[in-house]
Amino acid sequence: LTSTTYSKYLRLKELLSLQHPLTPPDQQEVHDSERLFIVVHQVSEVLLGQALTDLRHVAADRCGERCFARRAERARHLIDALEEQVALLHRALDPRDFLRFRDRFGSASGLQSAQFHELFRLTEQLSSKGGHHDALERRQVAELRAAVRRWRSSHLKMVEHMIGDQPGSGDTSGVRYLERRLNASSHDDADSATALPRTSS
Ligand code: HEM
Repeated sequence: LTSTTYSKYLRLKELLSLQHPLTPPDQQEVHDSERLFIVVHQVSEVLLGQALTDLRHVAADRCGERCFARRAERARHLIDALEEQVALLHRALDPRDFLRFRDRFGSASGLQSAQFHELFRLTEQLSSKGGHHDALERRQVAELRAAVRRWRSSHLKMVEHMIGDQPGSGDTSGVRYLERRLNASSHDDADSATALPRTSS
């Protein structure tokens, strides 16, 4: 048995040295708020990386029935956790602080997240495959899509709270663009999953 420690095992030195607000530390209020903004994005990308390990496995057809159920459910819990990150930012970041550091990150935007692109692509791929899915698997895929839509919806509300009707840093119309994305994702599967309740398991 090799001996390790808590901080070595978790690579804490590296992990905790990756938060670098662009606001100078002497503007402490704004600096600390920007740090929160960075942390929520980083945590989201880490959780999403974990969700994608399950989704890739399921989407590559490397799964029997039980594996599918287990992995699809785990991915859904992880997507729920992503939504909680957005809700945290909504509650904890003052929009006035956000507007004070916003210009510093220029045209950087969530639009450029490779992992979110993959999440959207894989969940669509899973539900358009059809055919080999039995009823249970279709339900699990519908729940995954519902979780992604809850993320979209919470993100949209949070964005509205932060920037109102201003354009996005990624050069879109902002809230209106996000509304279109949300609506497009609901129409695709209006037949199977529009009114899925949030399951509490
Ligand atoms: C103050 C907080 C935030 C604001 C004001 C905000 C704003 C926006 C805006 C306006 C867009 C539209 C594209 C653009 O023009 O930039 C967008 C897209 C996006 N954001 Fe955020 N965002 C925030 C936080 C987050 C967080 C925490 C995440 C998760 C890591 C995230 C992930 C995304 C993704 C994935 C897109 C692309 C969505 C799509 O194309 O369907 N955002 N965001």
